[in-house]
This record gives sequence, structure tokens and C-alpha cells, in this order.
Amino acid sequence: MLRIAIDGPAGSGKSTISKRLAEKYNLLYIDTGAFYRTAAWMLVKFNLSVGELANYLKRCRIMLEKDRVLIDLDGNIYDVTDEIRSPDISMKTSEIAAIPEVRSVITDQQKAVAKRSSVVMDGRDIGTVVIPDAEIKIFLTASANERAKRRYNELIGKGLDVDFDTLLGEIVERDKNDANRSVAPLKKADDAYELDTTDMSIDEVVSEIEKIIRKKG
Ligand code: C5P
Repeated sequence: MLRIAIDGPAGSGKSTISKRLAEKYNLLYIDTGAFYRTAAWMLVKFNLSVGELANYLKRCRIMLEKDRVLIDLDGNIYDVTDEIRSPDISMKTSEIAAIPEVRSVITDQQKAVAKRSSVVMDGRDIGTVVIPDAEIKIFLTASANERAKRRYNELIGKGLDVDFDTLLGEIVERDKNDANRSVAPLKKADDAYELDTTDMSIDEVVSEIEKIIRKKG
């Protein structure tokens, strides 16, 4: 069993790196942020109270298929891939991710997946809460400016019209919310390897992690 936990703040390269590792080691890749984003999307879409949200989450199945995020809610399928990445949903996500009832449902679903299969999971609390006994734990960081630059290029590449300073402000705000909440905050696990990727290419980060995996044997 190989379970790799990748945590870190917004835009630190978690998903890009995780996808590369999943391919290389033939692991299931789980983007745990997509669960929280879907929760925020449901809250807005169905105009739910926070109390209703946990119930909706229990009824809904989230499917991560290739690069798409689909949800099955009572037999109705929604493709939420693009909508869950909007800046409004990103901010809303960080708000609802602080609610213990929401985290509890989502964490249980993610723990169940990690129990069954070898995975690489990325998020904020994977090494600390979801897979505390993961074989490999990595904490990725990068300066806020660099992370905003990466997000900016990604969104511009998708043809979206975004303003760099607004994006930077949102990233800083989201980090603050995520690191300061009382349940499962964004935090490096004591036994995680920390990699500052500010001046590293994707290939360099992947090869550093490969070295860590080899060393662990
Ligand atoms: O990783 P991503 O940027 O898509 O995550 C969106 C938000 O979901 C984060 O800012 C955080 O509030 C929340 N999240 C979380 N725990 C995780 C993954 C994401 O609280 N494991």
C-alpha cells in the first residue's frame, strides 16, 4: 500500500504534482478540495442552510473522472467542473470548510477511499487527519506572490478574465481562513517533508518527492 498525502496552501502546486505522482506510481488521485468546493456549490445552487448541507452531502456521490468533477445527487448528475473553480465559490468553500459538521461527513468519505486503495490525496488536512498514517507526507509551500502568479496563468490559460491583485488578495485571505480555523486547519504534519517550491520547476518537485519515496523504500 502506498498512500501519499500532499498538503499545502492554495496554488502551491498540489494538484499538478499529485497527478504526476499518480501516473508514475499508478495510484488513484483524489482532489479533496473538490469535495469542499462541491459542498459550497450545493449550498449556493440549492440555497441551503448550513444545517441542510451536511444532509445533502451524505446523499450525494462525488465522482472524480479524468479532469471532470461530476456529482450524483438523488440520481441527478451535475457536471460542476468549471463552476466550482470560480473565485466566488473558492471563497465560499473556505468559509464552509470551517464548519465541523461539513468536515465530518467529507472526512469520513475520504478516509473510506484511503482505506481501500493506494492513493495520492491532496488537500489541507490529509497528513494530519484524513491519512495520519500515510507512508509519505509532503507539505508544499511557495510564496504568496508565486502562488498567485501560477493561479493567474492557469485561469488566463483557460480564457478567464482575472485581475492579479484580486487573485493575490483572495489567496492570502483563503490561507488565513484555512490556517486559523479550529477544526483540521491547514498545517504541516510533524512527520511531513516540507518543500518550498517557489523557485522549483514541476519536474524538480516531482523528482524531490521521488527521492523521498525511494529513501523510504
Ligand atoms: O485545494 P483547493 O484550493 O481546491 O481547496 C479549496 C478549499 O477547500 C480550501 O481553501 C479549503 O478551505 C478547503 N479544503 C479543506 N480541506 C481539504 C481540502 C480543501 O478545508 N482537505
